[in-house]
Amino acid sequence: MNDGELDRRKAEKKRLGEFAASFVKEGMTVGLGTGSTVAYLIEKLGKRIREEHLSFQTVATSEATEAAALRCRIPVSDLNDISSIDLTIDGVDEFDPSLNGIKGGGGALLREKMVASLSDYTIWIADSAKAVNRLGAFPLPVEVIPFGYKHTIRILSQMGCAPTCRMRDGRIYVTDGGHYILDCHMRSIDDPKALTVKLNSLPGVVENGLFIDMVDEVLLAAGNGIDVLKKKKE
Ligand code: 5RP
Repeated sequence: MNDGELDRRKAEKKRLGEFAASFVKEGMTVGLGTGSTVAYLIEKLGKRIREEHLSFQTVATSEATEAAALRCRIPVSDLNDISSIDLTIDGVDEFDPSLNGIKGGGGALLREKMVASLSDYTIWIADSAKAVNRLGAFPLPVEVIPFGYKHTIRILSQMGCAPTCRMRDGRIYVTDGGHYILDCHMRSIDDPKALTVKLNSLPGVVENGLFIDMVDEVLLAAGNGIDVLKKKKE
């Protein structure tokens, strides 16, 4: 990606994060996603608390998000202490025309999926690079327990998933839950619904980054505006 493209994507993320903050209303419980787009949402929500005295509570989908929210004086509750989530706003790595997606580029897929599944309404904020016709160009993150992970790699390889163990600074990357992430380089996923069931049935797999029928609305940066894509009810 060249510098111009980077600047454009950054501007899109900022626009999306700030726009999404307007969806938060007084008294709501809000699930805060993870990533660079959500970082702008958090900043804007902090500003709304300071300037409008807006009051709401949140749950965070990662330690990084919790720290960022607290820095902006946004209250963060433990998921165990809340009974329902009105709205979750999160980023996404790729989504297809059915609004199914891949998440977990930032390593937070497990908590993100739990929070989304408990939410009354979920919105993804997506820069223009995230819309695809078919999922899979973005490597699918699969969260696994460290015990015997080399065998899990072997089994995923035999399934044709082409996994690589995610590294950071020369060491194996460890999630907030103490797990590893195997990024599966499949290039194209024929049947995401079948694959998510198959992956989650493997012993050693904790969760995978396919989010099927989990979002209600996608805010997609388009030109200088934002397209609102709503999930079609079946
Ligand atoms: C983290 C995620 C993020 O939402 C996803 O990676 C998008 O991130 P960004 O907004 O930085 O592009 O799934 O686990």
